[in-house]
Formats: sequence, C-alpha cells, structure tokens
Amino acid sequence: MNSSAQGAIGVFDSGYGGLTILKSICQELPEYDYIYLGDNARAPYGTRSFDVVYRFTLEAVRYLFDQGCRLVILACNTASAKALRTIQQNDLPGIDPSRRVLGVIRPTVEALSEVSHNGQIGVLGTPGTINSGSYDIEIEKFNPGFKTYSQACPMWVPLVENRESDNPGADYFVDKYIGELFSKSPDIDTVILGCTHYPILLHQITRAVNGRATVLSQGNIVARSLADYLQRHPEIREQCSTGGKCQYLTTENPDKFADLAKIFLQQDITVNHINL
Ligand code: DGL
Repeated sequence: MNSSAQGAIGVFDSGYGGLTILKSICQELPEYDYIYLGDNARAPYGTRSFDVVYRFTLEAVRYLFDQGCRLVILACNTASAKALRTIQQNDLPGIDPSRRVLGVIRPTVEALSEVSHNGQIGVLGTPGTINSGSYDIEIEKFNPGFKTYSQACPMWVPLVENRESDNPGADYFVDKYIGELFSKSPDIDTVILGCTHYPILLHQITRAVNGRATVLSQGNIVARSLADYLQRHPEIREQCSTGGKCQYLTTENPDKFADLAKIFLQQDITVNHINL
C-alpha cells in the first residue's frame, strides 16, 4: 500500500451520536477533510454483544480505509470499548500498519485529573460500554486511586434517536438514571457522558445533576486530544488531506439521516447511502 497517500479523517459511529464529536473536531481542526459514517441501519450498538460490535466496527473501518482514510476516529464509546483494542492490536498490522484507529475513551479519561477534585467519578453509558468495564480499567490506569461508579442508561439513545429528548418521558428516564448513579455515591464530583448521543440530553442531565458534579461532554475533549495527537505525530498528520470538506455517509436512509442530523449539527447537510 502507498503510505505517502493522503486521505480524509474518518469518523465512525453506530448512528448519529458521533456527530457531537465531529462538530467539535471540525471546529478545532477545520482545515482537514472528514468522512462521517453512521451505521444507522444496524444501530443501536449499545445492547449488542462484543463479537457483533467488533465485526460491525471492523467492517466500517475497512470501508473508511477503502475511501482513502489514513486515520479513523471511533466516535462511539461502545465501539471504542468493544472493538478498538482488537482492531489496533490484531487487525491493523495485517491491513496497513501505517494507518491509525483511535477511540474516545482514553482522551476522556486523560482529561479527568484536570476536572475532578476528589477522584469520585460517575460514568454514564450504554449497557455495552458499562458492562465492558473499559472506563473502570482506563480510569484506574491513568488515575490510580480514583473511584469509578458506573450507570447504564439503556433508554437514552432510543430517546434521542426517536426525537423524544425534549419531552417529559426523557425527563423521567434522565431523573431515573441520574438518581441511580448518585445512590451509588453522593460524593461523585465528575460525571462523564460516556456515550456520544448524550450531549443531546445535556440540558436535562445538567438539571438532574443539580450542581452536585461537573458534567463532562466528550466533543471538545476528543477534539483537543486529536489536535494534540496530530501535533505529536507529523507522520500521521501529513497523511490527512486538507481541503476543509466533510462528507456524510449512512447505511440507512440518507434523507432521514440529514433530517435528524440537524439536531446534532444545527445545519443542513447532504448525505449518501452506502452498504457495509
Ligand atoms: N453513540 C454510541 C456510544 O457512544 C452508542 C449508540 C448506540 O447504542 O448505538 O456509545
């Protein structure tokens, strides 16, 4: 393979959630080209098994590589938790060792020491992310002594994807999961939104947390971490094309994607359909 080629930065999510990450990345690094891929036809990933999330994610990464991407961001905590390490360690060396796949969990965890005062961390995520234990492992690795309290929020992604986030049903489920999280420890001072869909519920979550903790969205954290990564890795930076363009792909209906994407991006976009 030609390692001197350039390509867009691939941004992958099971559906719409990764758009919250893409938006921040485009604000931080507007000069690069991006290809966003949402596997909406097979979302949600949050309740799927390890094997399935790994297989779907690898298919998406391979597709983005075929489009010329040299660097792919898994803008999905579930995929980062269940597929990233295997892809990095087992698949990439055989596919093309000069390409990179990065996730969203490590940058989030690395930012914790700047935010938390008492090391009591709450993590909200899909059942897949929470059951994987990835946040607990990474938090322990980067911040020994921190204590992690996790809460799966299985209803939140469907609420967002079904445009119910501003309705009373959403308040009910936000109060329920935030209540369950703080019942594990009233001393939590930092709450990680460990799912890229959750910033759409930020207003409701902040209301329910009610000043007890800092609520951490991942968009800006991941964007700053990517900027830093590209700074430290000129050999990868030089493989990223700089046309300032963003292309949107979905495995579902492109009109439906464009319509719901407005909630995430506050802009009209053109979307193309692909099959994985
Ligand atoms: N946006 C994904 C995440 O960050 C989850 C959505 C899904 O369940 O597919 O975990």
